This record gives sequence, structure tokens and C-alpha cells, in this order.
Amino acid sequence: MQTFIKDLSSKVGEEVVFKGWLYNKRSSGKIAFLELRDGTGFIQAVAVKDSLSDDIWAEIEALTQESSLEVVGEVSAHPKKEGVYELQVSKLTSIQVAHEYPIALKEHGPEFLSDNRHLWLRSKKQWAILRIRDIIETAINEYLHDQGFIRADSPIFTPNACEGTTTLFPVPYFDLGEAYLSQSGQLYAEAAIASVGRCYDFGPVFRAEKSTTKRHLTEFWMMDAEGAFIEHDENLQIQEDLLKAIVKKCLENCTEELKVLERDTAPLQKMLEESFTRYTYEEAIKKLNELGSDIKYGEDLGNDDEGLLTKDSAVPVFIEKWPKKIKPFYMKIDPENPERVLNNDLIGIEGAGELIGGSQREDDFELLMTRIREDENLDEKDYEWYTDLRKYGSVPHSGFGIGLERTVRWISGTEHIRECIPFPRLVNRLKP
Ligand code: 4AD
Ligand code: MG
Repeated sequence: MQTFIKDLSSKVGEEVVFKGWLYNKRSSGKIAFLELRDGTGFIQAVAVKDSLSDDIWAEIEALTQESSLEVVGEVSAHPKKEGVYELQVSKLTSIQVAHEYPIALKEHGPEFLSDNRHLWLRSKKQWAILRIRDIIETAINEYLHDQGFIRADSPIFTPNACEGTTTLFPVPYFDLGEAYLSQSGQLYAEAAIASVGRCYDFGPVFRAEKSTTKRHLTEFWMMDAEGAFIEHDENLQIQEDLLKAIVKKCLENCTEELKVLERDTAPLQKMLEESFTRYTYEEAIKKLNELGSDIKYGEDLGNDDEGLLTKDSAVPVFIEKWPKKIKPFYMKIDPENPERVLNNDLIGIEGAGELIGGSQREDDFELLMTRIREDENLDEKDYEWYTDLRKYGSVPHSGFGIGLERTVRWISGTEHIRECIPFPRLVNRLKP
């Protein structure tokens, strides 16, 4: 039976069977240090020539980077480093001796690494990011279930746009004409809440945006949460609590991963202690102008504006109540000011940019029809099923969508979003 690296601390003095890969090897000719990995972690194995048969030593000598292997050995505590364990090799069998591995343990350019993404995933940094991504997904699922949200996934083939018609990916769909890849499952989540009250979907969404920034993918994962009877203020509170729950879970479960990434965790700790800042859109524009931005009322915030607004902030910043003109049809008109909507963006700290977009939804049939008709790109027929929801037991409701890779990028402290999803899809990259 295989013992995993993550469980070795309780096996000191015992002989275990290890199965995995060779990450790196140093040998003096008499003693070899093998850095091994098995998916759960990394460990050094020590092989002493004199205490091994000639056959086994020859096998060790022949091992190349990324060879797969099986080792039998005793677990020992590292002589100097506390909490670090080693394996004293008594037997070793290679499963497959790897061909010369293209990714040496040195700096490589991003294009080369991206071409070799299927192999690059094995590097220590990518291992850490993949694991953090998994913990973030787990944290989201746990938090939402704790709050009574049921998972009800949305379709990916859709007949209409959720987030504007300019970023749709069309797909030929049999005799029915064109389908589009979903931009967000929100509209379907709005239908499902009338069945289960609170729900969420979690899956891939698609945007045909020609953005080549460090924060844009053409395929990314989004969690859309939606709740009946949740109004604007509560919606913001849920977003704040969710983000804090994610950070807390990462700090508790990803110590090793964050260390590998050399992530300073102090800002993550600190943001748990205070409430998030809330600016109205109007306040945000004023503030940005004071800080030297030339953004005008009615314009969307760019990357630089988001950075400027959160520059000295220890906590993420909500920007709420945007002009309705620059926001989608489904957002509810603010009863206090018909020119704006009850929505929010949540801008992360440390240059994370927009992590969440959310809003209270227009629940009045007539007002919703007006918004759809006002938008010259939308055909009201496409939205009949959606507007039906306002005819049969309409209730005030709100929701939001969080971008998984944006969150992974921020928490892991990764520069480019392409490293935050196993196989990134960018404007100029579809392979591997
Ligand atoms: O702000 P967005 O467009 O909101 C919606 O799609 C709503 N329908 C969600 C809802 O209310 N249920 O997207 C939500 C989040 C953004 O805040 C951002 O984190 C992420 O999705 N996002 C992207 N992530 C990576 N690449 C892109 N091209 C992204 N576009 C949006
Ligand atoms: Mg947005």
C-alpha cells in the first residue's frame, strides 16, 4: 500500500512504500539526494550507495528528472529542520525512466511554459496554485451550503446573452440555428430560486473579449449565487462574508502552498479584521479624480482606476449604485434615483482588480420589459422565459458572480491569470 507524503509525519521510524515522481536529483557518487513528489507534497529521499545493492544503485544513477518510481524506505525526521521529514531508501524501482524532460529546473519564458502547460503543471509553483484553487472552490461550496444555498447548475449552451451581445461565442446548433456559450449562469439561477429559495451554479463561462490583460481569460470559472428575498445591502454582506470565508480557509489549509509561492500572508490576515469599504459609484469617481484620474462620470473603471482606488486600502472596496446606462438590463432601478441601479462591483486589494459583480434584480415585469426594449441589441422574444419569472410570484431578489481565477490569482499572489486555471484559454492560446 502507498503512503502519501502528507501523512509521513505520523510514520517516523516506520518503513513505507512511496509511489511518485523524481523532481530533482543530486548525487556525489556515494550518496544521492532524490527530491520526490507524489501530488500531496515534496520530500527528500536519501540513498546511500554502500547500504544498497549494486542493482538498486545503478537504477538510481539512471533516474532522470520526472521518472516515475516506487521507493521503500524508513521515514525519519530531518536532522535540522523541524516539521520536515525524509525517506531513507532501502529499495527503489523505476516505473518509467523519463525521456529528457523539456522543462529544466531553471527560468523559462512564459510562451515556452504555456506550450508545455501539460508538463508545466507538475512544477512546484503550479502544484501550489492548483491546490489553492481547489481549496477556494471547497470554501465557496462550504460557505454557500452553510448559508442555505443549494447548487443548481446552469446550462452552457444558451439561446441568449446575459452580459451584453458583444462578447458572445456563437456555436452552430443543429436545426435550431445558433447557440451561444454562456457568459454567466445568472439568469437560470434566477429561475431556480423560485424552486429552492437560494441557489448557486459553479462552472465555466465564456467571453469573446479581445482583452489581453493579466486578468482576462476567454474561458473562466464563475460561481453565480442568487437568493430570493435578498436585497441590495444583504447581497453585499454575503459577498463580504464569502470572500472572508475563502481567505480564512486558504490561510488554514494552504500554509505549505503559500510558503512555496512566497506569498506574504499579512494582508490576507489583516483584511479579515475589518469591514469592507463601500463607495457609491459617484463617490468613487470623485475620489479617483482627487487622486489624479481623469475618469468622468458615466465611464467604466479601468484597471488603473481600480488600482488607484484600492492602493492604500487594507480591505476590498465595494463600488455600488452605478449609472443604469452602463449596466445590463436585469439590474434593479434604485428607487431613490431612477438613473442608477442597485448593483456593485467588488474590487480586491493588492491589485487584484474586480473579483465580484452583483446586483439586486429588476423584479417588476413592466420595468424589466422597458429595460429589455431600451437595449437595441436585445430581442424581447429571446427573454420571454426570463420575463415569465416576473409574472408568476415575483419577489425581490439579488445575486452576484465571483470569478474563480481572479480570486486564485489574488490569493496565490500570481502575476498572470493564465497560471490560475489548469489549461488557460486566452485570445491567442487554445493549446494544449
Ligand atoms: O461582472 P461580471 O460580468 O458579472 C456577471 O456575469 C453577472 N451575471 C454575475 C452575477 O450577478 N451572477 O462577471 C463576474 C466576475 C467578475 O467580477 C470577474 O471576477 C470575473 O467574473 N470575470 C472574469 N474573469 C476572468 N476573465 C474574464 N474575461 C472575466 N470577466 C469577468
Ligand atoms: Mg463586472
